[in-house]
Order: sequence, then structure tokens, then C-alpha cells
Amino acid sequence: MRLASVGIKLAMALAVLAAGRLGEASSLEARDDDTKYFFEAGDGDILNHYDRRFFKNQLSYDERADTLLHMVRAYLITFRKMGIETWIAHGTLLGWWWNGQMLPWDWDLDTQVSGATLDYLGDNLNYTTHNYVSEDKKVQRQYFLDVNPWAIERTRGDGNNVIDARWIDVRNGLYIDITGLSETHPDIAPGIWSCKNYHRYKTTDLYPMRESIFEGVPALIPYNYDKILVEEYQHKAMSLTHYEGHTWNATLKHWAKDPEEEKKENNKRNRLGRRQAMPDF
Ligand SMILES: *[C@@H]1O[C@H](CO)[C@@H](O)[C@H](O)[C@H]1NC(C)=O
Ligand SMILES: *[C@@H]1O[C@H](CO)[C@@H](O)[C@H](O)[C@H]1NC(C)=O
Repeated sequence: MRLASVGIKLAMALAVLAAGRLGEASSLEARDDDTKYFFEAGDGDILNHYDRRFFKNQLSYDERADTLLHMVRAYLITFRKMGIETWIAHGTLLGWWWNGQMLPWDWDLDTQVSGATLDYLGDNLNYTTHNYVSEDKKVQRQYFLDVNPWAIERTRGDGNNVIDARWIDVRNGLYIDITGLSETHPDIAPGIWSCKNYHRYKTTDLYPMRESIFEGVPALIPYNYDKILVEEYQHKAMSLTHYEGHTWNATLKHWAKDPEEEKKENNKRNRLGRRQAMPDF
């Protein structure tokens, strides 16, 4: 009797161990499943940039760049056409600061809207698809706008739903993260706008928005972009000219990919490819 129960306990312990070894992913997801709305293709650095529903396979550097370029153009053009205010944020804003383009090593794009706009999106545009044709008519794409039902809750909560909405390329699952800013404590902190991930902004740092161009299309930029960027990334993000395997070319105003990086990426892709094919227990 005693021995049997020890045996069962041992078996259970081994099962738990095995589950742990098979991937932290499964245990994490089991916990997240309760409340999390958006699901990515995986937890890793690469797979977590794809929406699970639309993910097919990992994209190359060039496919990713092409996807993100048209995705952000489509987003900015579509929102402007609909008269919906949105602006670029985080790494996307940093890219704009350098040369009005995406940072080529970035996997995601970030935009923000006001909490009121977020409500509007949820009520009127949730689960809608938007067609896009590039200016030269050569590229046709479709994007899916999905609004998190937890968007109405404007505080962080359990942290599973800090992204309020996504604009997703239906061909491959890459997306723009859209987050809302709300005045969460108008009584004790009036004029302070916050997202669910604790980024805070003063009304006067956001407004009046500046009209600019991002990736060749009209875009809104928060008024005090310098201050916002320094607070988030420190001065070095605006002075370092070697970063993530890219070098800033001041003549071309362009981040050029280092030749060694190209090699490294190819190796990484091969390694990842092997690991996926043959899980490492
Ligand atoms: C958007 O639509 C999906 C699918 O119907 C639903 O699960 C989700 O709760 C909706 N979001 C909002 C903000 O209503
Ligand atoms: C910038 O690019 C141009 C054209 O490819 C090249 O001639 C120049 O050497 C580059 N400058 C730097 C600092 O890499």
C-alpha cells in the first residue's frame, strides 16, 4: 500500500517533470488560457510575433520587411480614411525619429489610440477585414482588425491582455499592436494617460499631434516625441549607430544590415528549422 502510493507519487512527479521539460510553453499557456485573448504562434522571440490563427511558417528577413511595410501603410491610410485618430509609438516611433521608416530589426509595429477611440473600434470595427492595394497597384493585401474584449478594462489586470487590438496580415499572421491610452486616475492624476503596460504620458506631451510621414504615408506623431523617446529608450537609442547587426549610414539616412548579420541569421534559421523538425527533449 505504502509502496504503491510512493510509486504513484513518483510517476506523477516524473510526469510533471516531463511536461516541464517538453516546453515551458505548455505550462505557461495552460495558465494563460483562462483570460488571454490574443494568442501567438509560440513564446519564442520569433514565433511570438505571429498571430496563431494566421501563422503558416516563419518568414525570411525580406518577407517580414515587405509584410510590415505594407501593413503599416495600409493601417495608417485606412484609419485616416475612416477619420480615426491613431499615432505611432515605441520602436515604431524610434524608427520614425531616425529616418521616417521602420527599424529593420524590429518584428513588431506599435500604434496607439485614445481609450475613446478604442471603444469605437470595439463597437464598430471589431472583426472587420480591410483590403489594401499599394500605390503602384502591384501589391494587394487584406488585414483583419481584432479588438480585445478586455479593452474596456483600462487597468493592467492580470497582465494577459495589455494589447487592446491587433491589425493582422491574414496571409501570415504578423501584426501591429494597437494599445489605448486612458486617463485612468482623473481624480488624483488628471492629464496623465496610461496604457495597460504602465507607459504614461501627459496630455501636453501627446497633443497637439504633429503631422508627418512614416514609410511614405501621412502619420501622426505625439507632440513631445523627443521626451517620450528618451524616457522610454534613453539617449543612447538616439545616438548609437550600430545596433542589432545594423549600421546607420548617415549619407543614405538608412540602417544597413551588416554582412556578418546576414550570415548569422541564416545560421539561426537553419538551427531553428532543425530544432522544430526534431524537438530537443
Ligand atoms: C470581437 O469579436 C470577437 C468575435 O466575435 C469577440 O470574441 C470579441 O469579444 C469582440 N471584441 C469586442 C471588443 O467586443
Ligand atoms: C553609405 O552608403 C554608401 C552607398 O552604399 C557608401 O558609399 C558609404 O560608404 C556608406 N557610408 C557608411 C558610413 O557606411
